[in-house]
Amino acid sequence: MKRSSHIKFWLFATALGALSLTAQAADLQAGKNVVEMRCQNCHALNGIATLPGAANLAGQQDEYLRRQLKAYRSGERQDPVMGVVAKMLTDEDIANVSAWYASIKITVTDPE
Ligand code: HEC
Repeated sequence: MKRSSHIKFWLFATALGALSLTAQAADLQAGKNVVEMRCQNCHALNGIATLPGAANLAGQQDEYLRRQLKAYRSGERQDPVMGVVAKMLTDEDIANVSAWYASIKITVTDPE
């Protein structure tokens, strides 16, 4: 009895782990592809913007990125450049590019 519940838990945890690992790996690679095609000219692949006036996206919160991209796409947030860019993105693209930028590790140093 005790043994079988352990095995069930182990199976459950393993399945969960495998699911989240594969989902995350696929998202990041797909996100990277979209960033290389549509974002890197202004925000760079590493999310430190090269265009003056474009935002740094490295290490930004995933949820915040998704929300902003959907707002640009719907017109709720207005910007002539991002409005055009966001309309080219599917929901899946938005999830993937957000995961890409959110997963970039940053460190911060307080001003002296
Ligand atoms: C031609 C240059 C350009 C390209 C290409 C571009 N962006 Fe932007 N992006 C900007 C500018 C400029 C802003 C600031 C707009 C504003 O003031 O709202 C911005 C803002 C953003 C913001 C809001 C950041 C914040 O802090 O609120 C996000 C998120 C974003 N871009 C994501 C992307 C993604 C993802 C792509 C590719 C799919 C992309 N951008 C492509 C120029 C660009």
